[in-house]
Amino acid sequence: MFHAAPISAADPKIFFDELAQQMVGLLAGERDPIANAANMAALIFNTVPRLNWAGFYFLRGGTLVLGPFQGQPACVRIALGKGVCGGAAESRKTQRVEDVNAFPGHIACDSASRSELVVPLMRDAMVFGVLDLDSPEPARFEAADQAGMERLAAIYVAASDPL
Ligand code: SME
Repeated sequence: MFHAAPISAADPKIFFDELAQQMVGLLAGERDPIANAANMAALIFNTVPRLNWAGFYFLRGGTLVLGPFQGQPACVRIALGKGVCGGAAESRKTQRVEDVNAFPGHIACDSASRSELVVPLMRDAMVFGVLDLDSPEPARFEAADQAGMERLAAIYVAASDPL
């Protein structure tokens, strides 16, 4: 049984080095994309502080559909280009939103969310989903969090079979 080890590092570089190491260990020996996404959502939610939601949306027939997550129940379908998630998928660029209430088109799944980080998941130059993190704190996510989550997303893609 894998247990998420608490990471207390104040230095984000050390924090994400340790989290990446745990992630590689957690996903080792398993290539199922849903199982790996479920474990990754749980590891992130239980180690990264000040989150109220962590999970996946996967692109199905041009729409993002809810995948494994931790947190409150969430919107199931998000059209490409809609909200922060749809924007990340369409632009293929990470979206780091300091104040979701000021983001035009933000989709409020949990009214507690104040800031959001969404990383597109890419394979062979094609987007196939997003990794979405929400925080109840405004401006929770910094450039180091973006870099750290982009690194974790790449570990997930490399460790998992295509959906
Ligand atoms: N806020 C997101 C929707 C997903 S939930 O945060 C889980 C958005 O605007 O795309």
